[in-house]
Formats: sequence, structure tokens, C-alpha cells
Amino acid sequence: MTDDHTFRGSSAASAASAASASASRWPAGFLWGSATAAAQIEGAAHEDGKEDSIWDAFARVPGAIAGGDAPERAIDHYHRMPQDVALMAELGLQSYRFSTSWARVKPGDRGVNRAGLDFYSRLVDELLGAGILPWLTLYHWDLPLALEERGGWANRDTAYRFRDYAIAVYDALGDRVSHWTTFNEPLCSSLIAYAAGEHAPGRREPRAALAALHHQHLAHGLAGAAIRDLASEHDGRAEQLRLGITLNLTNAVPNDPDDAADLDAARRIDGLWNRMYLDPILEGTYPADVLEDLREYRFEELVHDGDLAAIRQPIDFVGVNHYHDDNVSGHPLAADTASAPVPTDRPKSSPFVGSEFVTFPSRSLPTTAMGWEVNPNGLRDLLVRLTAEYPALPPLYITENGAAYDDAVDDDGRIRDLEREAYIVAHLEAVREAIAAGADVRGYFVWSLLDNFEWAWGYAKRFGIVHVDYDTLQRTVKDSGRAYARIIASAATVA
Ligand code: NOJ
Repeated sequence: MTDDHTFRGSSAASAASAASASASRWPAGFLWGSATAAAQIEGAAHEDGKEDSIWDAFARVPGAIAGGDAPERAIDHYHRMPQDVALMAELGLQSYRFSTSWARVKPGDRGVNRAGLDFYSRLVDELLGAGILPWLTLYHWDLPLALEERGGWANRDTAYRFRDYAIAVYDALGDRVSHWTTFNEPLCSSLIAYAAGEHAPGRREPRAALAALHHQHLAHGLAGAAIRDLASEHDGRAEQLRLGITLNLTNAVPNDPDDAADLDAARRIDGLWNRMYLDPILEGTYPADVLEDLREYRFEELVHDGDLAAIRQPIDFVGVNHYHDDNVSGHPLAADTASAPVPTDRPKSSPFVGSEFVTFPSRSLPTTAMGWEVNPNGLRDLLVRLTAEYPALPPLYITENGAAYDDAVDDDGRIRDLEREAYIVAHLEAVREAIAAGADVRGYFVWSLLDNFEWAWGYAKRFGIVHVDYDTLQRTVKDSGRAYARIIASAATVA
């Protein structure tokens, strides 16, 4: 991914298979957790001073969200937080990855909302009291609407407002939280949100999307530097601080590895979806081939002097979110070819995608309820490939992996979600193979702890290892949750 832009997943795969796939132990200290995000679980969308985020507003656009669903109440975590933390403890989670809502902390970006910050302060205390490491994400897609009204992420000023917000959260929680993630999946909050229009704020403006991409990188750099500075003002905090970013990365697999057009399509997707994020953050550059592909959008004009140095902050980890790969072709789909829609976690229309340059033919792999391929080897290959191709790569954490299935509650009240359990087990095995092949992976967070608001899919897709009854809001641990608890318990015993 640095100077040679051909896809290298196949060599990664053989490296991995050469290594022992059956390592019986996890590395000492391997961290076991689960993840959620504020807008997906909290509810209380207009309580205690919280104002609209772009997702509250998007939910009011007819047809924007399946079933007309909204995050207004979500699963009411805001009021049920202590019980939810007790559930985490029951499952044996060692860490909980959650996000803070910018619109709760700095509504309208005016001043700091103490009541909003207090919620997170109570959450952190509850976690620490239960022996669970808080893993905080500052941006999981819920920009305050007031900032979107001033241009949102297409406006460079939003990066500086993000730094202010990060400082406010760090001031309140930095004494107890050591693990900080600036952004979750900026690919989604830039290209899906501003070019494909399928996520809030629902804009379909490719140049604005590219501006959002750059400004989110800048925001990452500015906030990261501010947090490090603040940490260094307090005894012992800088040593404890672990600061990073979570990216959703994919293997862009050429449909025919011997076909030049397919290889080029895979290069474009790898470039736009992986390297446009990894390269500036880890190496302080944007990939030249992608800038060339994007020349009609004049991307370089967005990048001011000093930006790349600001973006390339030292980071302590990269969080990898991975659910599936992408099979990519540079040919129009033949009429009789099975076509795969671009998955909903990818920008369906953005530069290249949906154009004559790139198509996504189906492969015959099993799929989840999202229509996403199940292919654990992809996760292994991705981790090995990152390790091989980025010399400056810090330790990796799988900050999301999991699956949506159409769960049924049996008459005895049990949720026998065997497919989800098998998905998790197979992907953990893939992580172990990657570690055996040399990848420095330090932890795994299953997505998600609880069924929740799946963005444009509303409540229709369930990812939880804990079932939520959307009428009563009752939580019931699914069989996959029990299995995950057993995995954590046995890994902790042999570590
Ligand atoms: C990634 C996102 O970070 C998360 O919010 C989402 O629910 C999952 N993928 C599943 O789509």
C-alpha cells in the first residue's frame, strides 16, 4: 500500500497459513471487550441539555431511515446505564468501548453542558467500579446539528471546534480515562455521509465529502495533540495515555487477479477506502495515485501548509473495524452476472463508486442479515497485510467485529443465535492466525454489546450479543453472549 499499489492479500494469506493456526493461547494481556456508540444506544435525545445531532435531524427526513425509526429513545441506555454496566460485568468484559455525544457535551457548540458531561463521568465511575476499562471514542458520527448548519465537516472550522470538544471531554474525564479514540470509521462519516447521502447529514456532494475527509483527519491531529499536551500537565497521565483512531479497513479483492481492469479497480477502492486514511495518519502523506484519480475534485487545495504534519500525530494504536471484504471489478457487470450491491457500510456513490470504473460482483460466500459476506480469512489477511505494509504501524485492536442476524426469541425466552456465535468464533480464530503470523493485535471488541439503532437501518438489524426487546427494553443475553463470556473466561485462565 505504500509504493506498490497492487493488492497483496494473497501473499498475506500464504504467510498466515505458514504460521501455526492452532496457537492455543492468546498473548498475555489481550483485552476482551464489546462496543457501542452514543447515538445508537443512549436515547434521551433531548434531555439534560442535549440538543439535536445530525442523526436526530436526519431521522426526521421522510424515507431516510428504515421504518421511520429514530434515535430519540434508542435503547434508553442513558437511564439504564448502571444495569447495562452490571451486564457487562456479568459477561466478564474487561473493557467497554463507548462514545461520547458531542451534542450532549457542547450543545450547539456554545459552552460545556455539565449535565451531559456528568452522564459520562458517572458511566466511567460505574465501569471502573466494576473493574472494566473505559475505552472512549470522541466521534462516532453524531455531529451537533448546529455545526452542520455552519457547513459541517465540509467547513474547515469544524476541525477546530472538534479540538475544543475533545478538550472539554478530556478535562472532565482525563483523570480516569486512559484510552482515547478520536474518530470511528471516518470513511463513513465523510464519504457515506457527504457523498453517498445515506448517512446523516445526507448530502450528495463529492467535493464536500473529500473536504470532510481531510477536515476529520485534521481534527484527529489537532485533538490528539491537545489531549497529549493536557495529559503531560498531570503527573503520571502521559505514561498511561493510549491515543488512537479506529478505521474500517477492507481487502479490496480483484475479481480476477490476472485482469488489469479488475486490479486497477481494486487499487482505486483500496486507495479511497484504506490508504486515504492510513497514509496521512501513519505517514503524513496522501497516496499520489488516489490524488491523481481525484484530480477533478482538486483535493490538494484543501490541504494547507502544516496540515499533514498536524495529522501525523504519534498514535498508540490503530483500531480496526472489520466485518467483510469487497470483491471488486473494473468491468461493467454482464447481464447474467450476479451483482452484489455496495454494502451499506460503504459509500454507494462517491468518487469512482457507482461509476464505470468500479463494480462489485457477487462471490458465493454466505452472508449475514446485512448481506455482508462472511469470510474470516479476510480479517486475518488484512491484519497481516497492514503489518507488512506499514512500518510505522502501532499495535492493533479489533475495535469492532460482529454480525447481524434475524434472531428469534424461542418459547423458553432463549435466543439461540448460533450463526452469530460461529461468526465470532471463526473471526477470533482468524485474529489468532494473524497474531501467529506476526501481527501485533492486542485486543478484540465484539460489535455490539446490545441490539441497537443501526443507523439508516433503524432497529431492523440486530448486532447485539444481548437481545433488546424494543417494546419493553428488556435485555436478554443471547447464546452468543454466553459463548463470548466463556471465551473470555477461558482465555483469561490460560493467558
Ligand atoms: C460500524 C459502525 O462503527 C457501527 O456504528 C455500526 O453499527 C456497525 N459498523 C455495524 O454496521
